[in-house]
Amino acid sequence: MPGPKDIRMLPFGAGTRHCPAMGLGLVHVRLLLAALVRAFQWAVPATGAGGAPVDLTEVDGFVKHMKTPLMARITPRT
Ligand code: HEM
Repeated sequence: MPGPKDIRMLPFGAGTRHCPAMGLGLVHVRLLLAALVRAFQWAVPATGAGGAPVDLTEVDGFVKHMKTPLMARITPRT
């Protein structure tokens, strides 16, 4: 495959058909994250994979995903 070999993720594509709204998309990702942090309290779950140390090992499939997904226990802020 042509191009730099160190690119590992192209969420907005590349070249002439790349996403024209990348800036808008990134703003929305940050807004969504901020809304989630504001609305919920975040904690490590008592059981399950949440207790496991963070492991960024990737698994190849249709998309890449984490071998050990991050887990969180969220409760609505009052
Ligand atoms: C996090 C948010 C977004 C992601 C990850 C994303 C990702 C992508 C990807 C992967 C493509 C295809 C690129 C290619 O074929 O090489 C694409 C195309 C496109 N996106 Fe987005 N996008 C996002 C948000 C948006 C938003 C908010 C809009 C409009 C307001 C938008 C409008 C478009 C359009 C019109 C195309 C087609 C471009 C073309 O084919 O010439 N995208 N996007």
